[in-house]
Amino acid sequence: MNSAEIRQKFLDFFNSKEHNYVKSAPLVVKDDPTLMFINAGMNQFKDYFLGNKVPNSNRVANTQKCLRVSGKHNDLDEVGHDTYHHTLFEMLGNWSFGDPKDSSKGYFKKEAIAWAWELLTEVYQLPKDRLYVTVFEGDKEDKLELDDEARQLWSEHIDSSRVILASKKDNFWEMGETGPCGPCSEIHIDLRTDEERNKIDGLTLVNQDHPLVVEIWNLVFIQYNRKKDKSLENLPAKHVDTGMGFERLCMAIQAKESNYDTDVFTPLIKMVEELSGKTYGDNDKIDIAIRVIVDHIRAVAFAISDGQLPSNNKAGYVIRRILRRAVRYGFTFLDKKEPFIYNLVTVLGEQFKNLFPELDSQSDFIQKVIKEEEASFLRTLENGIKRFENYVKDNPISKEQQIDKDHHGGGAAIELSGAFAFELYDTYGFPYDLTELIAKEQGFNVDEKGFKSELEKQKERSRSAAQEDKSDWVMVNEEDHVEEFVGYDFLEADVKITRYREVTVKKKNLYELVFNITPFYAESGGQVGDTGYIEVGGEKTYITGTRKENDVFVHITEKLPEHTSLTFRAVVDSKKRRLTEKNHSATHLLHAALKRVLGDHVQQKGSLVDPKHLRFDFAHFQKISEEELETVEEMVNSKIREGISLDEKKNVPINTAREMGATALFGEKYGDTVRVITFDP
Ligand code: SER
Repeated sequence: MNSAEIRQKFLDFFNSKEHNYVKSAPLVVKDDPTLMFINAGMNQFKDYFLGNKVPNSNRVANTQKCLRVSGKHNDLDEVGHDTYHHTLFEMLGNWSFGDPKDSSKGYFKKEAIAWAWELLTEVYQLPKDRLYVTVFEGDKEDKLELDDEARQLWSEHIDSSRVILASKKDNFWEMGETGPCGPCSEIHIDLRTDEERNKIDGLTLVNQDHPLVVEIWNLVFIQYNRKKDKSLENLPAKHVDTGMGFERLCMAIQAKESNYDTDVFTPLIKMVEELSGKTYGDNDKIDIAIRVIVDHIRAVAFAISDGQLPSNNKAGYVIRRILRRAVRYGFTFLDKKEPFIYNLVTVLGEQFKNLFPELDSQSDFIQKVIKEEEASFLRTLENGIKRFENYVKDNPISKEQQIDKDHHGGGAAIELSGAFAFELYDTYGFPYDLTELIAKEQGFNVDEKGFKSELEKQKERSRSAAQEDKSDWVMVNEEDHVEEFVGYDFLEADVKITRYREVTVKKKNLYELVFNITPFYAESGGQVGDTGYIEVGGEKTYITGTRKENDVFVHITEKLPEHTSLTFRAVVDSKKRRLTEKNHSATHLLHAALKRVLGDHVQQKGSLVDPKHLRFDFAHFQKISEEELETVEEMVNSKIREGISLDEKKNVPINTAREMGATALFGEKYGDTVRVITFDP
């Protein structure tokens, strides 16, 4: 079975169990402060688990693009050095969303376990004698019992000698420091040769980081919410969240010894071999470099296709660093001093044409961005090497040291300062091991301790700069928990606070309020959030901003109203909203005009809309001429002067909206139904 067939079989299987297919969410998370990139299939369903939102369907299945390069789940350092971790990977998942009011909806451990077993052993025909299962053993600190229910259920399928009890570290899944979580049960596979298996029992290698005894599927039984104070609270309903590493599954089914030997990676490896003249499989260092490159290009290209360009901060910086790691391995181990990695994008576009068409349709653009990044980092590397040479000139090796070096094959006597190694790291992007490598060639040792302490100091600096501390939500009017936005029709409304919490951002105390209904527009699609006030009995509480956290509208204020349980009159600053709306409309006019004048490739890569101005980011392959700018300007202005009236349609199914020709943006997540605005058909 090739990888596409393996993926399809998974989706077909769960379709036969009445699961609806849901598209992968975009990789870059825009409205969840606990997360930068999607790191698990369950992220896009977080609100269903927490009970903030009601799903359309209780059973769904998907394949989700995931990136584990920051935060709680970070595999970056392993990638390339081993054969089964990745920055970007696909996670196959089946899901059950429980309904607190109707326990007949959804399913739980019994079905999740039975179906996982059926799919693996009957559909994929993986040999049962190579499979092991782990079950949560309980945890004293969290006052949780052994998951005996799961153990019992497994005993219907697999001999109890193949079931292992495991601790919280491996068998209690949490998305982040807080949020939905629960005990899990994992399925592991032993892919070693029979000879090896006879020598050492596979059971003893489960969870021991053996490259051929690996976890392939994690079945999580979500039933708690981890709170800020580390305690667990029961969720309103129980849910199933399963995640199967697609690339590892391919390794198992295709009976390979490495994810990189499956057809997910071999076309990429072949191209790197062609571009570099090196062969995969002959030399450890070259192999690692090739694995790093074919892995990292996926992360970078997917992120760009979802709208995240490499940049100097936050998510953009993570992407930049991943790409630089790839460039660096190519530079050092494949002798590539010119950009070449961007070429791999065409392979990806082809591979994922049917599943993630956003790669192929933006292929030229993605290649251009990556090529430019590669070129600029290669220049930085050259500069760093020059800086290094100057350092060597300024700190010459003495005669005795030279003799020592010649005789002992290394300059043990001379030390390159940790501060200098840190400068190379910080200013020139030299990872420590690159500095060490070059240093050794020049006869220096590096003061690793000194380097690490500089690094620690910098981390501390950025930690305290970014510090944000949020308390748990305090529930107020719980019965009114439906949180509805009415701000397209009303700029004032009577609202109740359903919950609030205190947050400290950069040492400043603020409160976040959630209302049952709200006229306040939350920052999204580049449009700034509304401001205004809420009032009761003459007490006004100013709302200084509104933003979305997942799908919840959060209103920010510096002070908490005295009586939080009352009904407030909420009033939006209407002048500011109206001006902002005008600029938002103008953004769309501008986008349309740019497309007409420059071409259809003009895609929104970012935008900011506030009462005073608008900004629209896009990529074009050359400088725009004065004439072109004037044409765009005239086009926009003449449309404004036509005074075309706005046509608004609410609750349009997303597919109908696309058919109507609505502009949708890559990397934006849309609901099943959307609001469509037409100015000029
Ligand atoms: N959330 C679990 C994981 O990521 C299962 O999907 O492993």
